Amino acid sequence: MMTKQQFINQIAAEKANQLPIVNGDEWRNKFHLMAPIGWINDPNGLCYFKGLYHVFYQYSPLDAKGGLKFWGHYTSPDMVNWTEHEVALFPDIASDVDGVYSGSALVHNDEMYLFYTGNVKHKGDHDYILTGREQNVIMVKSTDGFNFSEKQILLTNEDYPKNMGLHVRDPKVWEEDGIFYMVLGARSVDDKGYVLLYKSTNLTDWELVSVPAGGLDDMGYMWECPDTFKLDGKDIFMFSPQGMDAKGLKYHNVYQSGYAVGSFDENKQILSLGAFDELDRGFDFYAPQTFKNHDGRIIMYGWAGVPDAVEHINPTIEKGWQHCLTLPRELILKGEKLYQVPVEELKVLRKHETIIKEINLAQSQVFELFENNTYELNLDFTNVTTFELDFREDCQLTFKDGIFTLSLGESGYGRDYRRVEIKAISNVRIYSDNSILEVYLNEGAEVFTSRIYNKRLDKTLTLSGTGDVTLTKWSL
Ligand code: FRU
Repeated sequence: MMTKQQFINQIAAEKANQLPIVNGDEWRNKFHLMAPIGWINDPNGLCYFKGLYHVFYQYSPLDAKGGLKFWGHYTSPDMVNWTEHEVALFPDIASDVDGVYSGSALVHNDEMYLFYTGNVKHKGDHDYILTGREQNVIMVKSTDGFNFSEKQILLTNEDYPKNMGLHVRDPKVWEEDGIFYMVLGARSVDDKGYVLLYKSTNLTDWELVSVPAGGLDDMGYMWECPDTFKLDGKDIFMFSPQGMDAKGLKYHNVYQSGYAVGSFDENKQILSLGAFDELDRGFDFYAPQTFKNHDGRIIMYGWAGVPDAVEHINPTIEKGWQHCLTLPRELILKGEKLYQVPVEELKVLRKHETIIKEINLAQSQVFELFENNTYELNLDFTNVTTFELDFREDCQLTFKDGIFTLSLGESGYGRDYRRVEIKAISNVRIYSDNSILEVYLNEGAEVFTSRIYNKRLDKTLTLSGTGDVTLTKWSL
């Protein structure tokens, strides 16, 4: 087992080698969080603590294809300007030797508590034989958000229901009426996804309350990264099920991430859930996590990537890095549907506004608008029943016969298109960064997040269809 100091030295040496290559890559993004070198996956430990936003993340600094996991760390006063910090958590004890896996933060009595899964792989089969893997829930605390206490082991394999196999992980902790609760994602021995609920009065001793949801036939074999929060008095349950089959236009990525609106019963024995839906229709979205901001907003970050997406070889790997996080999005509930809106704070990024009013789509129109790939576009439609937008080489957004399509063309490196059914279209907002697009439809009712790898700068945007559009563009 390596010590923390040995890891610090190893990562410093790797950085000295890799940083010039990574930083020289034109696909590095400008306003999306990435690992400084190597690989990033899930957002972890999201919170606002003593005047700063903290984003920790699954970090594999030594291998751009993903390997041993640490928690990387960024902070920001405003969710716009970020500072990178030293790795926060290292796999340096026997109970997390094979990875400091995902988890969450709780701010309580002026202290930050981090909860994560210590992953341990024994020799042999890590999935099916009942001794092949340990998944320990571990806690550290901090008074400043940068220096962390000794690791405290809270739960081990012994503490999980016996019908759960070796995959129990990703603690999300919250406080309600003076009691602390924790959800964990799980895979049962008969390969169904579940959520486990624990409670504590002192954050150290935890007891199982219930297995409030899971075991559904068409909802996959494992539920990763469970998260629950209240919006308008309802319990929203968000999770990342693995093993769902594609259905119509939905669930075409390797694994899914979505939510259902529901409610816990009084004793938290049962979490009744409404229909499940994907959060994002793009190619690159997984393992989202939320936190409740001090002003009451529920804010979510996702990983702009999906695990085990082997059919797609990401071209940044050879530049020494892979993946990024999404922008922070505020979640808003309208009826039974979650809307996602990039946080207000991001508007300070806007520079050099260009507005083109009432463009008649009947004739195809070409606009030379871009000096680089980092911009925000807002399109407000009037009486639009079909449209096509071509930009970033052969990337296309289309709306026709009630279906909205994002198609990436060559720049998708093997990924073709994703679709969603919508009744009508009133608005499209696009965040374009060097190698990612976030496309928000109809005020955030639908979102497509996709990495995109253009070979050259395309300065133009082409619009056609029926109806009128007013276009606003900002450089970012
Ligand atoms: C989700 C996930 C989590 C796990 C982490 C490991 O992407 O598989 O379940 O804790 O990534 O990096």
